[in-house]
Amino acid sequence: MSGPLHLAKRFFVSLRPGPPSAPDETWAKGQLLAGEVELWASMPNPDRRHAVGVAHGVVDLLADQATRPVVAAALLHDVGKTADGLCTPGRVVATLLWAVVPDHRAAAWAERPGWRGVMGRYHLHPVIGAELLRAAGSDPLTSDWAAQHHQPESTWTLPADVARALQGADDD
Ligand SMILES: [Fe+2]
Repeated sequence: MSGPLHLAKRFFVSLRPGPPSAPDETWAKGQLLAGEVELWASMPNPDRRHAVGVAHGVVDLLADQATRPVVAAALLHDVGKTADGLCTPGRVVATLLWAVVPDHRAAAWAERPGWRGVMGRYHLHPVIGAELLRAAGSDPLTSDWAAQHHQPESTWTLPADVARALQGADDD
């Protein structure tokens, strides 16, 4: 999900401007609760395009198991990135930084002004996203996946086949 190839693909795809197609945007909003639609609208175009692709992949993989909360999880798993405001080059820097800075620094950095705050909030985007989703009234499955989507499989609380589909579609 955050390996070098995945990140490289995300980087080049993110350089293309523009929102998702109008049908994709309409379909995505139709999967979301009212509070979730507001969060969706706050996500930048490249993130919404990526998320729609993940959600379509999950529907293909899970068919009837792709319930509304599962599709919402695919669409909003990275919504916490709205808190750092990093564009694509900044995310590359953050990824390189957190490869060498210990994870435990993130919480303290996230509270600081300046670049440390931005980097800290980027690293904590799963936790921040889960908080945003809980505040928006999301189904627990949706907020749990936001919190867990960068964690090892052994820590997942979602049904295993659902979580594997969410991660597998994100790797495509
Ligand atoms: Fe993420």
